[in-house]
Amino acid sequence: MVYTDLPYDEETKAGFARAMFDHLDNGTTDMAPEILEVDPRVYTDPELAARERRELFGYVPIIAAHSTELPGNNDFATVQLPNNEVVLVRQADGRVRGFVNTCRHRGAQLVPEEKGSKRIFSCRYHGWAYGSDGRLRSIADEHTFGTVDRSCMSLLEVPVEERHGFVWVIDSAAGDREIDIAEWLGREFDESLAAMEMDKYHCHIAQNFDVDINWKVLMDAFLDGYHITSTHAGTVAPYFYNNAQAWEPMGRHGRMVTARKSIDSVRDVKPEDAPIDRHITVAHFLMPNMSVLRQPDHLEVLNFVPAPGTAVGTRMQMRLLTREPVVTDEQKARWDKNWKILMAVLRDEDLVVNVGLQKSVANTDVGPLYFGRNEIANQHFHQWMGRAFADPRKWG
Ligand code: FES
Ligand SMILES: [Fe+2]
Repeated sequence: MVYTDLPYDEETKAGFARAMFDHLDNGTTDMAPEILEVDPRVYTDPELAARERRELFGYVPIIAAHSTELPGNNDFATVQLPNNEVVLVRQADGRVRGFVNTCRHRGAQLVPEEKGSKRIFSCRYHGWAYGSDGRLRSIADEHTFGTVDRSCMSLLEVPVEERHGFVWVIDSAAGDREIDIAEWLGREFDESLAAMEMDKYHCHIAQNFDVDINWKVLMDAFLDGYHITSTHAGTVAPYFYNNAQAWEPMGRHGRMVTARKSIDSVRDVKPEDAPIDRHITVAHFLMPNMSVLRQPDHLEVLNFVPAPGTAVGTRMQMRLLTREPVVTDEQKARWDKNWKILMAVLRDEDLVVNVGLQKSVANTDVGPLYFGRNEIANQHFHQWMGRAFADPRKWG
């Protein structure tokens, strides 16, 4: 096992230990002031889904890839985002740029591959060719096509920035959107996320799962520390405490600490001295649709990308990041086993419950949904979504 200590200062760690010991001793959890009612149509309404894609995902940065997925110049990856399929390309100067994956001629998909390395992207339909900088290089039989100003026919570009080991994108080629991840995260959350040292991890597995579930149902499932005993009785429930969480909102985003049951082995130590590093999970929830879960020996990064054109579809992008590159057979076997367990928990438990939820909230007669005071992180998410729509320029 490759454990890394929690890279926070002693005071922060003592705070985590104190909060968890208190909750576990008293059977408590962090709580919101009130129960929150939510209209179930947030999960089903196609108009709301279209607005989310246009007004929210067209403006805010989301994670599109880990930097190690594009290690070298001319490496590319195609990624389906809420509004566009985007091809990310590492440039000669090391920077990553992103282009809408649509040929400017008549709209063919320019890059069909998921990843690879290319200096020239040639469209299969009529053979127009683009450089890795998105510029149109050549038009087949140009003398017969008619006059075209090639400089206006570059691939449409989306704003991209690399930070914390990830490639972030604003999913719009409107040309008037500025990307500034540090500003988006806010100083406190940016620092807390920096402590995850995501740039020092390696992306061992990145997989997509297309599910017929609204993206917010899935975000809710991962913000929720209250369902472990009931939903995950057969798998992880024996290892994690249920319904005991320390939640810290940090501007738009938030951090949650939960405990493994192994924390009991250090509970008689004073919080300031307790070696809790291997016994807690630190989760960062990034509005609107991402979660970075730090387990003591790896990171799980999840993105819930709304599928284009529907309220009831999400591409879950799941990544498992390890501190050391997975090279030996022994390492591979260990992490593949870990991944299989994760998949079993997801597929056989979370998805079963949430496919059912998606179906049942579409019933004609459904009252409001209730988020308890203990479901404080979910409340933060729904309240933030409400504020973001009330004033889209401020984004909550
Ligand atoms: S659509 Fe791409 S070259 Fe014609
Ligand atoms: Fe779950």
